[in-house]
Amino acid sequence: MPVPMFPPGFLWGASASAFQTEGAVDTDGKGPSGWDAFAARPGRIKDGADTTRATGFHARYREDVALLAGLGADAFRFSVSWPRVVPGGSGAVNADGLDFYDRLVDELCAHGVTPAPTLYHWDTPLPLEEAGGWLDRDTAYRFAEYAGIVAERLADRVPMWITINEPAEVTLLGYALGEHAPGRTLLFDALPAAHHQLLAHGLAVRALRAAGADNIGVALSHAPVWTAGDSDEDRLGAELYDTLTNWLFADPVLTGRYPDENIAALMPGPVADDLKVISAPLDWYGVNYYNPTLVGAPRPEALETFSGFTMPAGLPFGIREIEGYEKTGFGWPVVPEGLTEILTLLHRRYGDRLPPLHITENGCALDEPLADDRRIAYLEGHLTALRAAMDAGVDVRGYFTWSLTDNVEWTEGASQRFGLVHIDYETLTRTPKASYAWYRDLIHAQKHQREQPQEQPKRNEPAEGAAEGAAKRVSGG
Ligand code: FCB
Repeated sequence: MPVPMFPPGFLWGASASAFQTEGAVDTDGKGPSGWDAFAARPGRIKDGADTTRATGFHARYREDVALLAGLGADAFRFSVSWPRVVPGGSGAVNADGLDFYDRLVDELCAHGVTPAPTLYHWDTPLPLEEAGGWLDRDTAYRFAEYAGIVAERLADRVPMWITINEPAEVTLLGYALGEHAPGRTLLFDALPAAHHQLLAHGLAVRALRAAGADNIGVALSHAPVWTAGDSDEDRLGAELYDTLTNWLFADPVLTGRYPDENIAALMPGPVADDLKVISAPLDWYGVNYYNPTLVGAPRPEALETFSGFTMPAGLPFGIREIEGYEKTGFGWPVVPEGLTEILTLLHRRYGDRLPPLHITENGCALDEPLADDRRIAYLEGHLTALRAAMDAGVDVRGYFTWSLTDNVEWTEGASQRFGLVHIDYETLTRTPKASYAWYRDLIHAQKHQREQPQEQPKRNEPAEGAAEGAAKRVSGG
């Protein structure tokens, strides 16, 4: 299945994050993060992967930049580690930490790859985490200070910025369910963590602009919520889940309102003033998409979900496994048309308020070490679905696949491999997979479409399953 042509100037990129790749957790003055402390607890990282080493990106970033250059990638979305730059979370700046990102940015620029840093990809400085983390309003102000510090140093060379990544996952997995750092199990009492991350985003937008940064976006996770069953309880469960995961974050950023007055009432104030900050205009908006979620009425028992974490009993909704689709290594269903669905939904919901989009993450975990044809099929399917959304009127300017290399998949450790490039965790040797060559050829063909319109990357086998495997379609939530 050839991927359709994208408009000239469309940005082709790859994504990664600091905790998942850098290692060097206490090198050159870096302070510990909440994730460093969480990962050090016995049994938290499933396969015992060494998160203190990760992929060794801190020492080997030049190799990875060369791999990006080899791809012909336009841009690299990496994250800046807050505790590497401000080890205490506030106060003294670690010059060596800042120098690392300075060198990385220079290396990317020297290879013609646009640096697109994310300022927060979940690694809160430990002293702030211990003082309450995102439950504490002060964390938002400390984040904005740090954002300004990074921008002061890098804005002269960085033309694209991302404030925070997936506050929904931090709130749900980190503060509500305790599956991720900081391991809190507050259920609905976790909601202030959502508000303070949103506030941190808004304050950071201000701080970035004040420091001369431009072209600012955010990376929020979005997935269509499909309703399981026909009962009112199923519908209400799906609607609540949809509100909590999709609109709780997007509505404040894009409209300056919370989607639900009852939820707004649970947020720490001054909510109305904060919403003005949170809804500061953005230049673009990033969507991380993996798969839809099937949700219905509450379940009487706890459930181990397909993502490997446990949803406790007693929640007002119940997540169900999506049947009838090919599954990735993680057990996530492969549903490319879910990307078209969520993008057109965002377009309908926000209209003119929706800035141009970038897909800031999309990819799949597979066990195949190098012959990862299923990843190629996955990417073909999702890029085709993305193009369909654009044909339907959604303004999308770029696509960052997750991820450039295999990396530490949070609590899943080294077991879930999302990379175009294989990492041998013993030697840290990088070996490009079949999908790397495929993506390189795709980018080349897309960029040379005017000169050679017939050129398209080929693969050996027809795409299997990715776009055609749909069985039962469930009603939209
Ligand atoms: C997203 C995270 C990213 C990566 C992918 C698979 O939720 O932002 O770091 O783990 O999932």
